[in-house]
Amino acid sequence: YLLGLDVGTSGVKALLTSQTGEIIAEGTESYPLATPQSGWAEQNPKDWWEATKKVIKQLINDSDIDAKQIKGISFSGQMHSSVFLNDEMEVIRPAILWSDTRTTKQCREIEEKAGGLEELIGHVSNPALEGFTAPKILWLKENEPSNYEEVNYVLMPKDYIRYKLTGEIHTEVSDAAGTLLLDVGAKDWDLELVDKLEIDPDILPPVINSIDIVGQVQEDVAQEIGLSSQTSVVAGGADNACGAVGSGIVEEGRVMVSIGSSGTVVAQTNNPSADEEGRMHLFNHAQPNSWYLMGVMLSAGMSYRWLKEDLYNDQFEYDKLNQLAADVDPGSEGLIFLPYLYGERTPHADANARGVYFGISGKHSQGHFVRSLLEGVSFGLKDSLELIKEQGVEIDEVRVIGGGAKSDLWQQILADILGEEISLLNIEEGPAFGAALIAGVGVGIYDDFAEATSNILKIEKTVAPISENSDNYEKYYNLYKQLYTSLKDDFK
Ligand code: XUL
Repeated sequence: YLLGLDVGTSGVKALLTSQTGEIIAEGTESYPLATPQSGWAEQNPKDWWEATKKVIKQLINDSDIDAKQIKGISFSGQMHSSVFLNDEMEVIRPAILWSDTRTTKQCREIEEKAGGLEELIGHVSNPALEGFTAPKILWLKENEPSNYEEVNYVLMPKDYIRYKLTGEIHTEVSDAAGTLLLDVGAKDWDLELVDKLEIDPDILPPVINSIDIVGQVQEDVAQEIGLSSQTSVVAGGADNACGAVGSGIVEEGRVMVSIGSSGTVVAQTNNPSADEEGRMHLFNHAQPNSWYLMGVMLSAGMSYRWLKEDLYNDQFEYDKLNQLAADVDPGSEGLIFLPYLYGERTPHADANARGVYFGISGKHSQGHFVRSLLEGVSFGLKDSLELIKEQGVEIDEVRVIGGGAKSDLWQQILADILGEEISLLNIEEGPAFGAALIAGVGVGIYDDFAEATSNILKIEKTVAPISENSDNYEKYYNLYKQLYTSLKDDFK
């Protein structure tokens, strides 16, 4: 068996799989998120650890297996969120999360100290964004100097949990990439940039490969939660890297479109070349010597939830909303939705952007608002796909995952708007499943990710674009893009 854990933002998910990829047992345990000030997002790493112990204990109990049969454990985790630890490896203050936007000032400082955006991208392949880790370290230094003084290590969430299980301190390439301090091509800390930013290099943990075995579960912890101290613990990866592994995005030409609360478009690449303007992320993959380009939309499924719960006051279930939307023609008779409820990352990197319904006329009714929203989110995903194409990545297959992918209507809208056939998979367990596969490669059950994923993942359904609709949507897509350009100065 293999155990995959995903230390997410709403909770920790644990998944026990067999070598052939069957799900033997799964469980989740949630924890709170604090917003002590507007735009802040914090969590207590101790909550992650308590929840992890609880969920593993429960899983072992429920599945009724001998823990010695678990050959490997690995991790996926929310990216960028900073765990500050002191000399005793105790948490100094709550972790500042990936979704926290307090660090705009520090982002500008980083750009300046690096010698401009181009220089910064030259160093770490990415622009300075509020969510990343380096700006959080500088925020701590400027705003809580006594806490900064105490910092012995800064770890990512899943690296902290792995440390608690094994006592070993590391990060691995895919999460290190999201700190903005890693030379993504060279796979090690960019000490020149670290020096320019006046960050103490000693607080950065050693960087290893995602499939490296770091050790075994510590005896006392194993006893407490029902694991075996003989089980190997494998480094693991960032949730987006693990999500990509879990959907078989492990060779060039495959793209994953994920519609969860946020939306991501991820393409594997063997060539670590970044977008010069930094409109997309370039991070290290969990697969050795492999990278991925990623566009991130902040409100994808979240926009739909907003419409259902806040705008329509839970008057309709999603099925009914989909039905209303299906009765409206593609293009929603000119009603255009910009899905920037909480700002946008790709392609605008604009925390001030906001949602828009444009072109409302007396002929529009509820169904138009629903359909236009599904179309607007799909246009946003197309923005990322277009950037990936611009980067020279050939696209052979688009695999769609996440809650949004469950709606037949949204599947068709997406295929039409992207102008690409889309595929849906037999297994959709997300990052925790990718983590289990990483454990399997790490302990040698699978030779590599290509073998692991091709044997386990199967395409269950494909949806082809309807060319008449695609042609129609091209016109609306152009208007969608123009609207942001026209409005951006007014969002400030
Ligand atoms: C990626 C990002 C999010 C988090 C969510 O850059 O910020 O996708 O990884 O956990």
